[in-house]
Amino acid sequence: MPGHFITFEGGEGAGKSTQIARLKTYLEGLGLSVVVTREPGGSPGAEKIRAMLLSGGAKDLGPRGEAMLFAAARADHVDTTIKPALERGDWVLCDRYADSTWVYQGEAGVDRDYLKLLETAAVAGIYPDLTILIDVPVEVGLGRVAERSRTDDSGGPDRFEGEELKVHQRRRELFLELARSESYRFAVIDGAKEPAEVETAIRNAVQETFAGDLNEGGASGVTAEEAH
Ligand code: TYD
Repeated sequence: MPGHFITFEGGEGAGKSTQIARLKTYLEGLGLSVVVTREPGGSPGAEKIRAMLLSGGAKDLGPRGEAMLFAAARADHVDTTIKPALERGDWVLCDRYADSTWVYQGEAGVDRDYLKLLETAAVAGIYPDLTILIDVPVEVGLGRVAERSRTDDSGGPDRFEGEELKVHQRRRELFLELARSESYRFAVIDGAKEPAEVETAIRNAVQETFAGDLNEGGASGVTAEEAH
């Protein structure tokens, strides 16, 4: 597959969206074609499932049923958005992917073998080249989420944000554990730092992973800002 696939993971309020937008700008500055997408969602079918999941409308199905819906959304997202973009040679930046199911639904008690089966079926062989885990202490992340819902009209925490502190803590630990066991594809970034520092750390990880591929677009690799 000629494209490059980078996923972003982390708990609530890690700052993924901000950092994805910054990495997109950087890569586009190199003349590369970038697709930003997210889960659950990222395709018309998967967005419908997203609405059901985040409203809590699927809560009655229990964690196994919810895991299956996340997987169904992912399968559609892979087929209709991610795979075609990678086949075109694009850089795909995806806000959450299969690791989120492993962590969130795993934490909720879903059996590991069952989650592996779902993952294998949903991703259809499309695994990330690099996973950026933005790690923040739970209190920091939740503080940011609380601030966000106070200042915008997001309508308060969603089904998965509004859990108890210890649940968020366990998710953080599971993400870190996964990053340790699959360290070949993970970069763990300290998300408690200032956004500009986090941006630099992410850029370094991307440069390290894709060293030879970053000048393909023909641009100099120096952004207008840096050139001055
Ligand atoms: P979203 O609003 O996209 O939150 P965030 O900015 O934290 O990514 O909501 C996605 C929520 O769904 C988030 O709380 C994590 C949860 N989730 C799962 O539980 N399992 C999954 O497989 C995925 C992709 C997300």
